[in-house]
Amino acid sequence: MRRKIVAGNWKMNGTRQIAKDLAVGVSAIVEGLDKSVEVLIAPPFILMADVVAQISSDVNLASQNVSGFDNGAFTGEVSADMLVGFGCSYSIVGHSERRALFGDTNEVVSAKVAKCIDKNIQPILCVGETLEERESGKIFEVVGSQLRAALKGLSQVQLGKVVIAYEPVWAIGTGKTATPEQAQEVHEFIRREIAVIDKAVSDVISIIYGGSVNAGNAKNLFAMADIDGGLIGGASLKLEEFEVICKAIG
Ligand code: 13P
Repeated sequence: MRRKIVAGNWKMNGTRQIAKDLAVGVSAIVEGLDKSVEVLIAPPFILMADVVAQISSDVNLASQNVSGFDNGAFTGEVSADMLVGFGCSYSIVGHSERRALFGDTNEVVSAKVAKCIDKNIQPILCVGETLEERESGKIFEVVGSQLRAALKGLSQVQLGKVVIAYEPVWAIGTGKTATPEQAQEVHEFIRREIAVIDKAVSDVISIIYGGSVNAGNAKNLFAMADIDGGLIGGASLKLEEFEVICKAIG
C-alpha cells in the first residue's frame, strides 16, 4: 500500500517563535486529517528542539539534510544519530539546492541515503532535472542516473524504506508548477525504474512531487496515478495554504 505523504520543507526560514507557531498550527491541521495521510515537517536543524516541544505525536519530524558520516571532525555537519535523538524519522536527501549550492554529488547523496537507512531514518530522495536538461530532452537520463546512483546496492528491505521526491528544478520556488501530466510522466518513469530494481517495492514506494505546489494546484497533482503526495516549500510556511494542501490528498 502506497503511503500518502505531505511534507513541508521550511528551508532556511523562520525564527524560534515562527517555528513554534507553525508547529502548533500544523499539529492542529493534522488533528483534523484522515489518519491515512502522513504529514511531515522539516525545520532548520537549530529550530528542531523548539518544534519537537510543540508538535503532536501525529506530526512526523524530518530534517532537510544529514551527514553521510557517523561522527568526528566534520565541522558544521549534523549526524543521523543526533537527528534520531530528536525523534526525527525522515531526512530530505539530495535536494536540488544542496546539489547545486553545496556540492552534494550523486556519490555524496548515495552515502547520505545509506547512512539514513543504517540509522533507521527514512530518506526522502530528491531527483529532478533543470530546465536546460528538460529542453534538451534529457529528463529521463538525468532522473534515471540520479536514482540509480543513490539507490545502488540497497537490499529490497532497504529500498522499501526510501521515499522518492520528484522535484523539477525549474519548478522550485518559481511559481511554475509542472502540469499534472508532466509530473505524472516522470513519476511513472521513476516507478518503472524502481521496478527494474525490485518490482514488489515499486508497487508500494511513495513518490511525491515538489515544485510550486500550492492550495490551487495540489488536488489536480495528487489525483494523478503515480503521485503519492507532495514536498512543499513556500506554501508550507503558510498554515492556511498548507492545510488546503494536506486536505487535497484525502
Ligand atoms: P517550493 O514549493 O517553494 O517551490 O519549493 C519546493 C521544494 O523545493 C520543496 O523541497
